[in-house]
Amino acid sequence: MNIFSKVITGLTFSLALGSAPALASQESTTPFGDAKLGEMKAPSCVFCHNPNGAPSQASYPNLNGQDPLYLFNAMNAYLNDERSGAMAALMKAQLQNLTEQDLRDVAAFYSSK
Ligand code: HEC
Repeated sequence: MNIFSKVITGLTFSLALGSAPALASQESTTPFGDAKLGEMKAPSCVFCHNPNGAPSQASYPNLNGQDPLYLFNAMNAYLNDERSGAMAALMKAQLQNLTEQDLRDVAAFYSSK
């Protein structure tokens, strides 16, 4: 995906956050990523992966409290087509506009739950 389609399809949201590191509070920062930023970077994820409890459907995986590296690797596996099936395609679409740092922050967020 080139930078233009990234900007068009994706998140002014994410771009705005990039320039607002002051939003990150100290205690949410881990060596892996920033949980506070992760929460803001992935507002759509919570419809299926509820950070405050069980996933919205029993068949959807629970991300809460998982190891951040595990979550990061799982997300990259979707992006790299290493997981297949309709649900994997859905997940790839969800992740496509996130940068590597976004994925790290989102992973830190869910692992902190
Ligand atoms: C429409 C519902 C839906 C949305 C929205 C969604 N996911 Fe998913 N997610 C799923 C499903 C279903 C799977 C399992 C897919 C499969 O079969 O591999 C999954 C799998 C995952 C996994 C792999 C978990 C594991 O243990 O293997 C991660 C990580 C993940 N999602 C993160 C995210 C993030 C981050 C977002 C937001 C950017 C997001 N998801 C948005 C439904 C969703």
